[in-house]
Order: sequence, then C-alpha cells, then structure tokens
Amino acid sequence: MPAFTVAVAGGTGGIGRALVNGLVQQGKHKVLILSRKSSTLEVDSASISTIATDYTSIPSMISTLQEHKIDVVISALILSSPENSQAQLNLITAATQSGTVTSFLPSEYGIHYTPETLSFHPAARYWLDAAAALRASALRFTRVVFGWTLDHYGIPRVHSYMKPFKYVLDFDARRAAVPGDGTQKVSFLHTTDLARYVAALLEDEGEWPEVSAFVGGVASWGEFVRIAERVTGAKWDVTYDSVEVLEKGEATMLPQPPGAPTEEDYPGMREMVSEFGLMAVRGVLDVSDAGIRNGAFPHIKPMSVEEVVEKAWGRDAGA
Ligand SMILES: NC(=O)c1ccc[n+]([C@@H]2O[C@H](COP(=O)([O-])OP(=O)(O)OC[C@H]3O[C@@H](n4cnc5c(N)ncnc54)[C@H](OP(=O)(O)O)[C@@H]3O)[C@@H](O)[C@H]2O)c1
Repeated sequence: MPAFTVAVAGGTGGIGRALVNGLVQQGKHKVLILSRKSSTLEVDSASISTIATDYTSIPSMISTLQEHKIDVVISALILSSPENSQAQLNLITAATQSGTVTSFLPSEYGIHYTPETLSFHPAARYWLDAAAALRASALRFTRVVFGWTLDHYGIPRVHSYMKPFKYVLDFDARRAAVPGDGTQKVSFLHTTDLARYVAALLEDEGEWPEVSAFVGGVASWGEFVRIAERVTGAKWDVTYDSVEVLEKGEATMLPQPPGAPTEEDYPGMREMVSEFGLMAVRGVLDVSDAGIRNGAFPHIKPMSVEEVVEKAWGRDAGA
C-alpha cells in the first residue's frame, strides 16, 4: 500500500525528472507527473504516464487532484516568466481547495530568495509570491534550497537529467570565467542527492520549517577552480568579471555544448548569467545560514564538489 500519492508538476524537466527518479527509487509512494501534455516517461525502468494539466484552469486542476486523490504536490515548474509563475500560483490555489492535498513543495531548488534579492534579481518575485501564497494557505510546505547545482560539472559522466550548461568552469577548454574575485562561498548539491533528500522529507510527518537547505559541499568559485586544476592536472586560463561588468549585464559567456539552453529558450540569458554572478559576489549562493538539514537524514551521504569532479574528470573517469 503506497504511503502517499505524490504528483510532481514539471516532472518532465531537468530537476523534476531527478525528483521523480528519487521517489521511484525510494519505492514508498505512488508517483504521478503533471504536464501540459500527455506522454509516457521512462524513469528508472518504470513507465510513468503524465496527466495532461491546464495550468490556467484552477477548477480543472482541482478535479485532477481530487480524481487521483493526490496527497502531496511537488512542483518543479520552471519559473522563467510571469506566465510560468502564475501556473504555479494557480496550482497552489487548486491544491488548497482540493481537499485532498495536505503538503506542497514549491519549485525552489536554488538560493534562499528573500525580499533583498529583488534589488539585483527581479525574477525573485516569482519564488517570493509562491512562498507568500503557501504561507497564507493551510498546506504544509517547505522551500527546498541548496545553492548551485553540481550537475553541470559532472555531465556527461555523472548521470543527470539536466541539460548541459557551462557556467564559470569549462572543463573541455580548461578555462574559467569567475564572477567577482571568486572568494565568496557557494553551496552545491547534485540533483541525485536533492532527489534523495526530497524523498526523505516525505517520511517526516511532523511540521516542516519554512526553508529546508541541503548541501553536498561549500566552496568559493576560486576554490572550485583549484579543485579543477588539481583533478585535471592542468593550469587553467582564468579570467574575472568585475562587479561593474556583472551589474551592466555583461558577464563572460562560455561557449555552450550541443543541447545546452539557448538565448531562444531564455531570452536575456546573458543578463541572467550576470545576475547569477552578482548572487555569488553578494554571498547568497551559499545557503548555509538558511538552516542546513542534512543532519535530519544522516543516511544520505551527498556527493561533494571533489567527488563529482573526480568522477567526471579524474584519472579514472569513464573507466
Ligand atoms: N540551483 C540551480 O543551480 C538550479 C538549476 C536549474 C534549475 N533550478 C530551479 O529548479 C526549478 C526547475 O527548473 P528546471 O531547469 O528543471 O526546469 P525545466 O526543465 O526548464 O522545466 C520544468 C518543467 O516546467 C514545465 N513548464 C515549462 N513552461 C511552463 C508553463 N508555461 N506552464 C507550466 N509548466 C511549464 C515543463 O513541463 P511540461 O512541458 O511537461 O508541462 C518543464 O518540463 C526552477 O525553480 C529553477 O529555478 C535551479
């Protein structure tokens, strides 16, 4: 008998598929995926049918949640536009009114957004609006944050559902474009470990704190470059983007591999990459002070920065 029926909205995406995979591997819950279109997804040798969802219609989402007796909604929707943000807000309203959903994880999986973040990253509004809607609801919720994903530095040798995206470090070219002076700390987690923590959270039947931070390791971008140099046994070409350059939205863009998100997917990508740089410089890419909860789940041993880089680029990589 599954413990909960869990719906992962956006379970077709990079983070979402990792979360679905983690829940399927855990094997305790019935897992469904909400998607804008019907399809079947192969995840960890299980076939999961997606439920076609119209995120603009709250009544139809309420019917879906009731029909499938959904207890828990995990959102992994991409919050890249006002339309996407509204989709998640509508889903929160539907979950609140469904009468079946008791717990909700909003799409976070990044930094701990606060009103201060708005001054240099206006899109933070989407995450803050979702948190405000959940605070006003009776749903149990927690905002899962970790900082920056380690997946980009392990692809393709360390399995990930995320699209490749070169940011700060280009292992192929042995080149780094560091935001600021590279001394501020950044916290990291691989999405495989994120998924294990999220699955474990569902086992916790008590109150959830507003923010649940999980990290695999903490390092500055400068320290990350030194790890990369040690593991690859090469001196890297390192340049630095000043705060002025980042504030002008002119961060250095690394050449992207096939399959990476493009300017077409994310108009204003260079501005967004510049804002990521400002997040690092202002220290908000390190979520350590948001309340790290690794200790609540000691059986999970997340991969560190060194482990991912060794597995992907070390002497025995691909062996
Ligand atoms: N910390 C980090 O380094 C990091 C990195 C990446 C992502 N994130 C965060 O993780 C979350 C998910 O990101 P992601 O990269 O996994 O997203 P993604 O793969 O780009 O998209 C996730 C899903 O969102 C759904 N979607 C797209 N547009 C939509 C719309 N207009 N209305 C409703 N649904 C829509 C799609 O599902 P269907 O097509 O099936 O409907 C898609 O599969 C975001 O909050 C993001 O900020 C953090």
